[in-house]
Formats: sequence, structure tokens, C-alpha cells
Amino acid sequence: MRIIRSLRLTMRPWEPDDAAFLLDLESRWQTVRYLTPDPTTMATLGEAAASIVRRRAVDHPVHGIWAITLTETGQLLGNLLLKPIAVSSGIARPAPVEVGWHLHPDAYGHGYATEAADAVLRDAGERGLQFVVAVTDPRNVASQRVCRRLGFTECGVTHGFYDADYLVFEKSLG
Ligand SMILES: CC(C)(COP(=O)(O)OP(=O)(O)OC[C@H]1O[C@@H](n2cnc3c(N)ncnc32)[C@H](O)[C@@H]1OP(=O)(O)O)[C@@H](O)C(=O)NCCC(=O)NCCS
Repeated sequence: MRIIRSLRLTMRPWEPDDAAFLLDLESRWQTVRYLTPDPTTMATLGEAAASIVRRRAVDHPVHGIWAITLTETGQLLGNLLLKPIAVSSGIARPAPVEVGWHLHPDAYGHGYATEAADAVLRDAGERGLQFVVAVTDPRNVASQRVCRRLGFTECGVTHGFYDADYLVFEKSLG
């Protein structure tokens, strides 16, 4: 998987040595509560290691799951994903590509999620991706602010993805 850089950040593949950080990040209810319809916290280093293997397996010319790091220090900050979304059961439409983000609470409030997503979407646009969606739990106002800062269009709450009600945002990259 490719490395993508922005002004302050380096988005790179997750490495086996990142397991302790990933566990710290995803063992927090604050991190996972809005990530999926049925959120669970990560509990062990073994789960983190297995998750890193799965993240690294998304090896694709455009899609990916990256660790967000601060270029100057190498500090791990969070996760950025770009991959086809799960369309709700019974809905016949091709899966659009989803962009998603989560940061360690110590990294909130610096614009890192917006900067990381902007860089990955610019890179994906240059590689031919034309359209992305982002879905947010209706209560997740912090993530909705990220969508708006990135220039996404708000499309209302639908049951179209993950068999759940999400506030959907979309953006054309072309
Ligand atoms: C969603 C989430 C990533 C947003 O984090 P965030 O720090 O608010 O978002 P950004 O990294 O884009 O930072 C933007 C904030 O930094 C501030 N900021 C400070 N310095 C900045 C800079 N140099 N550049 C840009 N913004 C800056 C902005 O003012 C903004 O704060 P505001 O929204 O209160 O105005 C974070 O809340 C999170 O990880 N939540 C848990 C996981 C989650 O729910 N993920 C989304 C699932 S859909």
C-alpha cells in the first residue's frame, strides 16, 4: 500500500509494531461508539495484531487503510480508510467507496482528520476515483464537521448502508 503525505502528516500502512497504539485507540468507547451500528471495544493486543493484518491486506491501487502519523515525529495519530462501503441488505446498487476516519483523543482539535482525508481523497482522485461517500451516526457532530470542512454535500439520513440509519455525505472528486 502506498504512502501519502500532506503538510504535517504521513499516511502509511499499519505495521505490526503499531499494535499497542491500535489497542489504546480502539479499546476506548469514545473512539468506537459511532464507528459501526454494533460497536465493540478492542480488548487485547492479539486482536490489535490480527486487525493490523486485515488492514494491511487491503492492497489496492486506490483503496486502503492507513495509519495517520505526524511526519515530524512519527507519532501515531489515528486511522484513515478508503474502501467500498457495505450496502444495506435488499438494496440493489453498486457499493460506492467510503472514506472514514478516527483519531486518538490526544490528537483531536488539530485538523489532522480533515488534512489526512483531504490528502487521501486528492490522491485517489488523481488515480481515477470519481465519487466518495462518508456516513456518520446522526449524533456524531465532530465527524459531520469534518465532512463539511472537506466540502462534502449532506444528503440526509438513510438506511442505505450498514443496515443502519446514518447521515450520509457525498463528494465528487472529478
Ligand atoms: C471525528 C474525529 C476524527 C474529529 O476529530 P477533530 O479533531 O474534531 O477533527 P479534525 O482533525 O479535522 O480537527 C478539526 C478541529 O481542529 C481545529 N484545528 C486546530 N488547529 C487546526 C489546524 N491547524 N487546521 C485545521 N483545524 C484545526 C479545528 O478548529 C477543528 O475544531 P472544531 O471542529 O471544534 O472547529 C474525532 O472526533 C474522532 O476520532 N472521533 C471518534 C471516532 C469517530 O467517530 N470517527 C468518525 C466515524 S464517522
